[in-house]
Amino acid sequence: MSTHDGGAEPLTALVTGATGYIGGRLVPELLAAGFRVRAMARNPDRLEGREWRDAVDVVRADAQDPEQLAAAMAGVDVAYYLIHSLGSGPTFEERDRRTARAFAVAAREAGVRRIVYLGGLHPDAETLSPHLASRREVGDILLASGVPTAVLQAAVIIGSGSASFEMMRYLTERLPAMVAPRWLDNRIQPIAVRDVLRYLVGVARLPEDVSRTFDIGGPDVLTYREMMQRYAAIAGLAPRLIRTVPVLTPKLASLWVGLVTPVPGPLARPLVESLIHEVVAKEDDIRRYVPDPPEGLLGFDAAVELALQKVREFDVATSWASATPQGAPSDPLPEDPDWAGGSLFVDERERVVDATPEDLWAVIEGVGGTTGWYSWRLGWMLRGLMDRLFGGPGLRRGRRHPTRLWVGDPVDWWRVERIEPGRLLRLRAEMRLPGLAWLELGAHTDDDGRTVFRQRAIYHPHGLVGQLYWWAVTPFHGVVFGGMQRNLATAAEGRAAAA
Ligand SMILES: NC(=O)c1ccc[n+]([C@@H]2O[C@H](COP(=O)([O-])OP(=O)(O)OC[C@H]3O[C@@H](n4cnc5c(N)ncnc54)[C@H](OP(=O)(O)O)[C@@H]3O)[C@@H](O)[C@H]2O)c1
Repeated sequence: MSTHDGGAEPLTALVTGATGYIGGRLVPELLAAGFRVRAMARNPDRLEGREWRDAVDVVRADAQDPEQLAAAMAGVDVAYYLIHSLGSGPTFEERDRRTARAFAVAAREAGVRRIVYLGGLHPDAETLSPHLASRREVGDILLASGVPTAVLQAAVIIGSGSASFEMMRYLTERLPAMVAPRWLDNRIQPIAVRDVLRYLVGVARLPEDVSRTFDIGGPDVLTYREMMQRYAAIAGLAPRLIRTVPVLTPKLASLWVGLVTPVPGPLARPLVESLIHEVVAKEDDIRRYVPDPPEGLLGFDAAVELALQKVREFDVATSWASATPQGAPSDPLPEDPDWAGGSLFVDERERVVDATPEDLWAVIEGVGGTTGWYSWRLGWMLRGLMDRLFGGPGLRRGRRHPTRLWVGDPVDWWRVERIEPGRLLRLRAEMRLPGLAWLELGAHTDDDGRTVFRQRAIYHPHGLVGQLYWWAVTPFHGVVFGGMQRNLATAAEGRAAAA
């Protein structure tokens, strides 16, 4: 039997969205605070490589599946709702409504004692942007669940990897001058991710009769324009030249954000649309239950400095890119070529490399990001741009770390699906494609003791369009995959020679 008073047994917390930006960071905080943690994910493989992986229970569940949810909730004291379907297109509200309802029912039936949800700070306005209206609706559904619920409402969260922070960072860094919508002068109350996490942990132990929303915000209230200028100053950039015009619609602005920043258009759009509102906390009642730390809440400048330090040190624990983009394939590579009754197209190449397997592996593990893909750079860039125009991630997600990879990491438009250190890297494509695609890069030693580099591009087409796509790109395979294999092998040999 668990208790609420920190007595005999620790509380069990269910963290949904554990692959996401907030969920992935909340898990270690809960562990440090003495909770037993169950991390929920649609694809638990994506949690491999997280430092906390072995310290938690992992459960596979889709929050839209009542049976899976019921199993995930069994024995749980506090259930964290850190899920959204932003980026899934115009029906995201409906998905979020369904997910919240299923979650509310499952929590009540499992006897969960508290739900904690992180939603969006919003004004009292009747007409909110679709994103904020949906976040409010989810809060209302959870509050009506019959389970005591704490809805924390935050505006822009400042932390390395947060979608809204990365949007601001890239816009400021890449555009010394910009034409912007008028609502850039609306006031916003950002909050540092560390303070969000402190509140999320703190409200788990609220008294049972507290079931309500709490506005949470940092000590500064700024306009988006001021945030960009202060970011520029902290990052050592010249002040940005910002001219506002009355005509720039959120739709146009988000297309622009999708092109200039790594945040894909479908995710950027609802976030940009929400900037038409002033988002400032209307109360600070949370302080009565979760007191400020002795040094106070982190201000905007300090939060940006911390976030930038993490980016520079390649220490970004989780980011918006950690979550699966909606519509991306989620099935692992079919080991059986007859999987799903379809056919697999494979471009397979093998080559002996005059280097040790370790040297070859170091080059394999370093692919993508600023290093690139060892072949026809312009072709990759154009394909990335095309992907972004169709709402995919393109090449701009880069890598989390310059030399190391973990399962679940984004690498440009790929995601690491499998790693056997020293032997095999399997990447699954998350670009917009009429089919599913993987790239495998492997190193092994043959019977004669030679190092062999094996490269496989695998494609499972969807329908006729999928087949046509494969035939259309086949003429480029020599340049793209052949070049990649040759140049990657040469890089390994160069590395061996330099050693
Ligand atoms: N980041 C911010 O700046 C910010 C600001 C204010 C409020 N918030 C709120 O904080 C919460 C968490 O946001 P975030 O930034 O951490 O989002 P995120 O990084 O995009 O993560 C979203 C998570 O939701 C999961 N998910 C989506 N649909 C699911 C389903 N049907 N079943 C199970 N899991 C599902 C995703 O799992 P997969 O990996 O399987 O896709 C992913 O782990 C949201 O409620 C958001 O509104 C965030």
